[in-house]
Amino acid sequence: MNSRRDFLRYASAAALATGATPSLLTWAFPQEQSVDVPGEDGMLLRSFRFVDIETPVEYFNTWLTPVPHFFVRNHMYEPVQLDANEWRLSIGGEVEKPITLSLADLSKLETHSVVNTLECAGNGRSLHRPQVPGIQWGKGAVSTARFSGPRMRDVLHRAAVKPSGKHVMFRGLDEVPGKVPPFIRSIPIEKALDSDTLIATHMNGQPLTKHHGFPARALAPGWIGAASCKWLTEIKLLDAEFAGNFMSPAYRWPNQPVKPGDAVKPEDTHPLTALSVKSVIAGPTDGASVSSGKIIVHGAAWAGEADITKVEISTDNGATWTPAKLGHDQSRYAWRLWTYDWKTTKPGDYTLQSRATDSKGRTQPSTPEWNPSGYLYNAIDQVKIHVA
Ligand code: MTE
Repeated sequence: MNSRRDFLRYASAAALATGATPSLLTWAFPQEQSVDVPGEDGMLLRSFRFVDIETPVEYFNTWLTPVPHFFVRNHMYEPVQLDANEWRLSIGGEVEKPITLSLADLSKLETHSVVNTLECAGNGRSLHRPQVPGIQWGKGAVSTARFSGPRMRDVLHRAAVKPSGKHVMFRGLDEVPGKVPPFIRSIPIEKALDSDTLIATHMNGQPLTKHHGFPARALAPGWIGAASCKWLTEIKLLDAEFAGNFMSPAYRWPNQPVKPGDAVKPEDTHPLTALSVKSVIAGPTDGASVSSGKIIVHGAAWAGEADITKVEISTDNGATWTPAKLGHDQSRYAWRLWTYDWKTTKPGDYTLQSRATDSKGRTQPSTPEWNPSGYLYNAIDQVKIHVA
């Protein structure tokens, strides 16, 4: 008998990040708990009601994240029953020929694969100061997979988009609880027609699992995770951005820098699109005690639609920086794993930091850009360790 017990670790991300018990988290459980969810061993459960599962940073050690270790973000209940034979995708709105496709129809179209680092806009929210309400993600609402399926543009061409079709709206089959607005968002037509934007049916060579949008999801590579609608059932061409909760006030970025703690009017914001430049240290982990000698510092770095050009490491609290070695595996939209061989003979307490720079010339800031919803946290990463 297989004695392996799959479990989810439940801990408040803010407590994880700061050692403090956050008062904001009324939904949080007071102590660590174990929950049986097959195949999700070691993952961090951030919400029970709607399944939200975080990947521990220690798992950022493979270029492709195994599906059971891929973070999950749901705004509402997952669809209860989804029969692949009955599933349909309709394409309508500002098109000449509205169409409805089955999974078999989709499988007849040319398949394209994209390795994409998918990051939730709220990743790192628990690290913003002052704290911001919402799921208190630590550093692991991000993972990487090879997504495959037909190109969205091939499907849109079949429906013949009218010149008035400027925005592409996605609706999923989530079970909408009570009066909550449904998870409907749109992306501009230019991104939808990009040759790498997919209607993904597979992840790492296997059909999508339910958590990740079975049987099909949109995939807008390099953009915030919210742009990639799961359990996709309707695509509608609109002449303007979709007007609804998940386009506004959610998932927007202030037009001007905001003083931490200040409110921002919706009209002074714009929708979030591509991800920022960011790196995370996967090991040694925060609080670790390691032996002196050769210590391999390692992690991952990503930059949305841009490429990572360098990752630098500091072992002296930011006084000096040395380049890390970037891993061989690379693809547009995918993170780069990196390593740094650090030799230390001096025991003591150290702060290790990582700082990524991308092909757009962006570098991780030392102070994160605070915003009222706690999106796109990307400050220089750091862990405190003890060398024995
Ligand atoms: N699609 C639907 N239908 N419902 C959702 O709640 N969450 C979005 C996006 N697509 C969501 C969705 C958000 S916020 C993120 S970050 C990604 O899915 C997460 O994808 P994953 O759960 O496959 O990691």
